[in-house]
Amino acid sequence: MPYEDLRVNGDRLRDSLETLARIGGTPGGGMHRLALSDDDKKARDLFVSWLQELDLEVTVDSMGNIFGRMSGRRPGLSPVMAGSHLDTQPKGGRFDGVLGVMGALEVLRTLREKGIETERPIVIVDWTNEEGSRFSPAMVGSGVWTGKLDLQWVHGRKDVHGRALGQELERIGYKGSTPCKSWPVHAYYELHIEQGPVLEREGKRIGVPRGIVCLHWYDVVVEGTANQVGPTPMEGRNDALCAAAEMILKVNALPAEMGGNMVATVGEIHNHPNSRNIIPDRVHFTVDIRSWDDQLALQAWERLKKDFQEIASRRGCGLKTDVTWRVEHVPFDERLVQRVRETSRRLGYPTHEMVSGAGHDASYMAMVAPTAMIFVPSIGGRSHVEVERTSWEDCEAGANVLLQCVLQSAMEG
Ligand code: GLV
Ligand code: MN
Ligand code: MN
Repeated sequence: MPYEDLRVNGDRLRDSLETLARIGGTPGGGMHRLALSDDDKKARDLFVSWLQELDLEVTVDSMGNIFGRMSGRRPGLSPVMAGSHLDTQPKGGRFDGVLGVMGALEVLRTLREKGIETERPIVIVDWTNEEGSRFSPAMVGSGVWTGKLDLQWVHGRKDVHGRALGQELERIGYKGSTPCKSWPVHAYYELHIEQGPVLEREGKRIGVPRGIVCLHWYDVVVEGTANQVGPTPMEGRNDALCAAAEMILKVNALPAEMGGNMVATVGEIHNHPNSRNIIPDRVHFTVDIRSWDDQLALQAWERLKKDFQEIASRRGCGLKTDVTWRVEHVPFDERLVQRVRETSRRLGYPTHEMVSGAGHDASYMAMVAPTAMIFVPSIGGRSHVEVERTSWEDCEAGANVLLQCVLQSAMEG
């Protein structure tokens, strides 16, 4: 059979997605499989067993990234890579990340089943802690692998219970012996759900992103004075939560003031001591700013810091801000993007050009290797929530595009 006629097995793909959705599944139909939790370990163990069934060479590096290598006719050539992540958001969805890993697995299963040997090796990958919700920041597995983040710093990052990422890697048995270090990659493809409303609205099956926006993460701590809420008059209070509330509204108003397709969000907040009859004396919240224009995002933060300072002084509160993480916007490789576009059209799938507003391991990969992504529609544009869904037909279509793109790259000499 000519390679162009090869297709994945949609039922098998669905079956793997459904099987994984049982590990950490929530009563509301979503997923709660935080990075390096017991459920993440279970999902990893199952994934490794599936790689072994295919006779892949499996390695785990010191960041817990899992690689499965299928050899090619010319083992000396740099491999083609495909994958994503198996961790999820708290009460997140079943498709974010998992589709990219199971899509790549389905590609390899199809190649094995049909006895196809490619010129180049193909490597499937599950990157550790892409979500960044248990341990911030996000995308640390690919970040360290590509040399953009420091291994020791990442191992030392703690969750809200004070457990360090490195210790949790050891606890679940995934602190591998292989150094976490990149090797030359011929092409990296990541299949992913869109996580937004555009493809559905446009009635298109495949999204062709030209790159990913910048992601800037900050941590803000506001210090006030705790006191009994009853006897303490309203005048003269140093209420850290009220100061934070004003600051949060500034973040929300920022994109409209700055323009440039920016989005800005406060998604996490910790109020102390969090008692209904104590004036809050400490609030910690996060700020996430994204734009295709990195300079604009930096200016936005400078402006916010001034506003925060003014609010804190007016309310007699202390203020501490930290830059937690910044990833610049990345354009993808034009040749690979063109390949995704042409392949989709050849397969009869209508395409739509876009930019990814979500972060992906492809951000870091694009800094060191030719990279492209393949998006499929999110029903109702919902993601990072339990109702996150993509139709099985769209999952299969995305995996077919991945199969054909990986094949073309892997047959290049
Ligand atoms: C990753 O999930 C992100 O924050 O976009
Ligand atoms: Mn993802
Ligand atoms: Mn996500």
